Amino acid sequence: MRSRTAPGTMKVSPKRVPLSAYLGAVGMPGVTAYVGLFDIGAPKPGETVCVSAASGAVGSVVGQLAKLHGCHVVGIAGGKEKCDYVTGELGFDACVDYKANNLDADVRAATPKGVDVYFENVGGPALDAVLKRINPFARIPLCGLVSHTTRRRPTP
Ligand SMILES: NC(=O)c1ccc[n+]([C@@H]2O[C@H](COP(=O)([O-])OP(=O)(O)OC[C@H]3O[C@@H](n4cnc5c(N)ncnc54)[C@H](OP(=O)(O)O)[C@@H]3O)[C@@H](O)[C@H]2O)c1
Repeated sequence: MRSRTAPGTMKVSPKRVPLSAYLGAVGMPGVTAYVGLFDIGAPKPGETVCVSAASGAVGSVVGQLAKLHGCHVVGIAGGKEKCDYVTGELGFDACVDYKANNLDADVRAATPKGVDVYFENVGGPALDAVLKRINPFARIPLCGLVSHTTRRRPTP
């Protein structure tokens, strides 16, 4: 007997991908990455795509999709370990460690042809640094501004 699902829902199956993937690449983060990158970012092969929070649920998918699409892909992440994961495991072309206190120069070095698509997840200093490298007619899918939402508010 076929199982019934409510309208707009889908029964997930572990037969094709692990159940945990439905919380990531084939779940909401993956759909967010896909729609933001292709519907808003509209990258062309050969263009430079930069993404912040590159090792996170959304950013990791954005970069892998952009790479499959033939783009030069640059991530921004916090710390050497995360950057090594982004380039070594995820296959990005470069990753800038924003915690190394050399953000402007490191973003400039990683984006010799400027930035055509900036998929924004964090805002703050990362956004400032990438805007200095942004090309004419670039697209910026604004997915999130987590550095603003996690900022501590002064207690009244
Ligand atoms: N998950 C979804 O389905 C979904 C849907 C819609 C929108 N969004 C938005 O997309 C963005 C990323 O979501 P996610 O699920 O990929 O997040 P995530 O996996 O939880 O990753 C978030 C990453 O943001 C970075 N971060 C946090 N505070 C920061 C700060 N102050 N400055 C710079 N980087 C900071 C951290 O990476 P580092 O350690 O590298 O700094 C952290 O690991 C968020 O803004 C979220 O609101 C997500």
